[in-house]
Amino acid sequence: MDKLLIEGGNPLHGEVAISGAKNAALPLLCAALLTAEPLTLTNVPDLNDIGTMLKLLAQMGVKVHRNSDSDSVTLDAATLDNPVAPYELVKTMRAAILVLGPLVARCGEARVSLPGGCAIGARPVDQHIKGLQAMGAEVTVEHGYVHAKAARLQGARLFTDLVTVTGTENLMMAACLGDGETVIENAAREPEVVDLANCLNAMGARIAGAGSDVIRIQGVAQLHGAQYRIMPDRIETGTYLCAAAAAGGKIRLTGTSAGYLDVVIDKLVDAGCVVEATRDAISLSAPQRLNSMSIRTAPYPAFPTDMQAQFMAINAVASGTAVIRETIFENRFMHAVELIRLGADIKIDGNTAFVTGVDKLEGATVMATDLRASASLVVAGLVAEGETLIERIYHLDRGYERLDQKLTALGARVRRVK
Ligand code: UD1
Repeated sequence: MDKLLIEGGNPLHGEVAISGAKNAALPLLCAALLTAEPLTLTNVPDLNDIGTMLKLLAQMGVKVHRNSDSDSVTLDAATLDNPVAPYELVKTMRAAILVLGPLVARCGEARVSLPGGCAIGARPVDQHIKGLQAMGAEVTVEHGYVHAKAARLQGARLFTDLVTVTGTENLMMAACLGDGETVIENAAREPEVVDLANCLNAMGARIAGAGSDVIRIQGVAQLHGAQYRIMPDRIETGTYLCAAAAAGGKIRLTGTSAGYLDVVIDKLVDAGCVVEATRDAISLSAPQRLNSMSIRTAPYPAFPTDMQAQFMAINAVASGTAVIRETIFENRFMHAVELIRLGADIKIDGNTAFVTGVDKLEGATVMATDLRASASLVVAGLVAEGETLIERIYHLDRGYERLDQKLTALGARVRRVK
């Protein structure tokens, strides 16, 4: 199993290109299930989660053409002979639940394994199921599989009990081929939801209101093929900004936009960083020492839970005490114990972490526990004196394209070891 060896203490300098967004790419790949014509996506990141999703779609009958010289993928779902998502694939990637809505809408039936628990919390899919039932689907859960059937989904007024990103995306995709109007209230407002709606509209869907908490979808009989460029990854962007903020130096990130990251950038500015943004690039210069930043995670446009771990790492070396409150997932502080191994001063009380900045962290062997937790260990490793060895970096390979190469290009001493 690969590990990442980081020799900390080197400021970052230079420029790096940000990849397409994982969390936009995954639902967009599933959107291909809604049409019999080819969908071509560009700016597709080369990540393990993308590979898993393509494998899942291929075993349903989708013809997948991945252009190895570029970042484009063409999906042709003219024939879907196996509308099933098996446990073996779903267990490695929760986002596989995103095939449920499109499959029921297009094939009239789907069998999708329940994702089960994951390290950061229970993460049920009850809201996805409730929404499909409200659209007239007959849904049963048997032997660990969700089995949904509907001759044609009916437009309906849907209200999710909580804000769910993939839930909103699943129901929005399903409603595109429904009969009549569907209204999703309490919808997620994440930029990735908007990216999906834009692509679906390019495929002939009639969606209005994406980006607000009420999305209206007029069902159409069929969708057609399209070409669509995936938005930049705002979490990858934020992670590199944190890396430079903590390690020091000045970096420029290209192919990304500050517009997706207002709240994260505001916090970094409060911490003493100088951030300059153009339409498609962001530069950050780090101060001598950061000021601590308290955060509270909540659905977009509030502070993203996917940046919480990285902010815990930078607070570990900031001046003062930060209060970090996690409101989305019940068990998302697993990085704290690993950061403590590097010398951080962190106390946890329920969903709140109190982080008092220390003068320095010291390298040690640590274990990556989930995707963003791993990113926080990388940020901490870049600051820590001496060598930090991060084990189980397959989590990082799920969501960060060529992380070691990109960090090396910025002057970090990072090496993948077997
Ligand atoms: C998506 C993102 C993930 C991010 C998360 C929150 C993708 C592929 N993943 O995950 O990176 O951390 O949003 O921004 O886009 N919930 C229920 N019932 C449901 C659905 C969700 O109780 O049917 C709960 C979850 O357990 C969680 C909260 O709602 O506590 C939010 O989860 P949700 O927005 O659905 O997260 P994902 O879409 O899985």
